[in-house]
Amino acid sequence: MKGIILSGGTATRLFPLTATTSKQLLPVYNRQMIFYPLNTLIKAGIKDILIIVSPEHSGQYLNLLGSIFKKYGVNLYFEVQKLPRGLAEAFILGESFIDKDDVTMVLGDNIFEDDFSQEIKNFKSGGHVFAKKVSDPERFGVVKFDENNKAIEVVEKPVDWLSDYAVTGLYIYDNRVVEVAKNAVPSERGEIEITSLQNFYLQKGELQVSIVEGEWLDAGTFDSLLEAGNIVKNKKIYKKFDPIIDRAIEEFNAELKALAKKRLG
Ligand code: DAU
Repeated sequence: MKGIILSGGTATRLFPLTATTSKQLLPVYNRQMIFYPLNTLIKAGIKDILIIVSPEHSGQYLNLLGSIFKKYGVNLYFEVQKLPRGLAEAFILGESFIDKDDVTMVLGDNIFEDDFSQEIKNFKSGGHVFAKKVSDPERFGVVKFDENNKAIEVVEKPVDWLSDYAVTGLYIYDNRVVEVAKNAVPSERGEIEITSLQNFYLQKGELQVSIVEGEWLDAGTFDSLLEAGNIVKNKKIYKKFDPIIDRAIEEFNAELKALAKKRLG
């Protein structure tokens, strides 16, 4: 299983914060947002992770994460997405990285309280997505269910109500996803939508939809960013990180402190 974190985009809703850095490098309580999706993948034992970033922020990602997990056997790779052409483009940009493997993708601004390691480790084939009940489904990709509670369609930002279940930004797919993404037709807004991948697997009866029990935070606005920090603090989500991440951050901090001391003479 390979891992991808999609961490590009322009995040105009967060200007001026994102005029100087990437949204996914903004702080959520005591660490950068990107550490939360990294935790989701590392906890599941994924050793090879591709981080897709926008060109103007690539240096900042390298400075922070470049070799931070190397001694723990977690390899990070970076790819630049020149323009935000849609979530599904991640699988096209990541084609040679994914190679013949299956892949789990997490959006760089999605924070999960739950541990998905069992679902990721036990994945066999098809697709597996995770839905959460929300009060504002029109903001998300939404799962439509039939009378037997079977998922029948995923619709991106539906104008008319379909259900209260949003598809979160965690996706597990088998290797076919690369070809499916390559064949996907861009939507009216010009993006290769992740929902077209979900519908490919749904139509084949190969998409599993699980319900997320714990917190799911999508930190894309000032309010949701602030709320994410508060929830992480109050629910102590920052204490549930994989030890690899905690240790790597401690070592990184120690290195920074030593450098600062040297500079001061
Ligand atoms: O958060 C879950 C939702 O994420 C899903 O329910 C939707 O189905 C899915 O389309 C997506 O909706 P958003 O409106 O939140 O997508 P957004 O354009 O904000 O992109 C999500 C993240 O991915 C964001 O951090 C920026 C990054 N991104 C986005 C695009 C379109 C990229 O890195 N590259 C891109 O091309």
